[in-house]
Amino acid sequence: MKILIIGSGGREHALAWSFARSPKVSKLYCAPGNAGIAALATPVPIDPNDSPALAAFARAEGIDLTVVGPEAPLSRGIVDHFSAEGLRIFGPSRGAAALEGSKVFMKDLLRKYRIPSAAYAAFSQREKAVAHLAGCSFPVVVKADGLAAGKGVIIAAERAEAVAALDLIMADRAFGEAGSQVVIEEFLTGEEASFIAFTDGKTVLPLPSSQDHKAVYEGDRGPNTGGMGAYSPAPVLTPELEAQVMANIMYPTVAAMAAEGRPFQGMLYAGLMIENGAAKVLEFNCRFGDPEAQPLLMRLRSDLVDVIEAAIDQRLDRINLEIDPRPAVCVVMASGGYPGSYATGQEIKGLREAALVPGVEIFHAGTRRENDRVVTAGGRVLGVTALADDLPAAIDQAYRAVELISWDGCYYRRDIGQKALRRG
Ligand code: AMP
Ligand code: GLY
Repeated sequence: MKILIIGSGGREHALAWSFARSPKVSKLYCAPGNAGIAALATPVPIDPNDSPALAAFARAEGIDLTVVGPEAPLSRGIVDHFSAEGLRIFGPSRGAAALEGSKVFMKDLLRKYRIPSAAYAAFSQREKAVAHLAGCSFPVVVKADGLAAGKGVIIAAERAEAVAALDLIMADRAFGEAGSQVVIEEFLTGEEASFIAFTDGKTVLPLPSSQDHKAVYEGDRGPNTGGMGAYSPAPVLTPELEAQVMANIMYPTVAAMAAEGRPFQGMLYAGLMIENGAAKVLEFNCRFGDPEAQPLLMRLRSDLVDVIEAAIDQRLDRINLEIDPRPAVCVVMASGGYPGSYATGQEIKGLREAALVPGVEIFHAGTRRENDRVVTAGGRVLGVTALADDLPAAIDQAYRAVELISWDGCYYRRDIGQKALRRG
């Protein structure tokens, strides 16, 4: 089988790594990929958002299956485009991807179908949104409706901050069209976890729980990033809570999407807030998490091709996921300054030595090859991921590998996994 992966991050490297283990795969391609992915998949220099060019490539190369990593191409309808041309692709349609692409759509759906989530109100006019603040208790969470690369969510401690957030989103259009509507939401407290599942539109087949580390600094301080590290499993999601999430959130959401004429096939990712033994939805994503995919795919023993093919053909009810019982931890190494501005083009040293640490895989994100050197090319650069007998060993091995890698201005959190250790 020939498989085309779309995207260029650590998630896509982990997908390529997982596909490369499948005896069914004869050739991998990745558009556009990165320096690490290039060792497993032929790079295809096409923009992930250029569906017509990608479809033409898939047809010309005889690609049997295309798998989409990031949300933007999904929201723009790459799956509809490929399907209309008779090309096999895994991911939600444009209509289904609205679950991530429009927070107003998502919140309205959850309210209509009584799926647990924070109380909210949605606005398309700044004045009405500002007036609504008079009746709010603070903090509130102000969210741009559309995709904003994780930056469209502002927690406002008091009214003035909420007004500033509304101005930024609705008047300044800091996130462009994503800010034509806003959601003002109740602030939830508790512990966050990620719950990511394969779904064929009927059956939900969950991966183990995982947890991201969104804030840039240790102790969850500082601005949010795409994710500075992840581990799986997340002990906060007990077996009882997982059953509750499946029954009260995942299955009702898949049923609701079908009832709305937007059947959801693909990866369904619920970002959860957990408090007092109950889970509420913070957000839905319509794809694998990044960096959650890195530890999750290292734990997946089933052939990823089989699972994805079953999801496309609506046979997930006949699949059992085989999962490595051992935990995995991913430490993201980033460019200093991220999520703000940062330098690129820095030579990365120590990759070969670090790859020799037992149980470790080094997934590349923002990297590119320059002659015989690998250099930084983005904010998140590497996801150093370790699988080991227990969590302390996985943390230890991941950091042993991390410490062998360096470049000018390299930054990483030193506390990835500590929250799980405190619970365990
Ligand atoms: P979202 O993209 O909606 O998941 O928001 C990004 C991050 O903002 C989440 O991972 C949370 O850390 C935080 N957040 C979003 N909504 C809420 C909320 N209602 N209460 C508390 N924190 C929130
Ligand atoms: N790790 C968060 C995300 O993928 O959205």
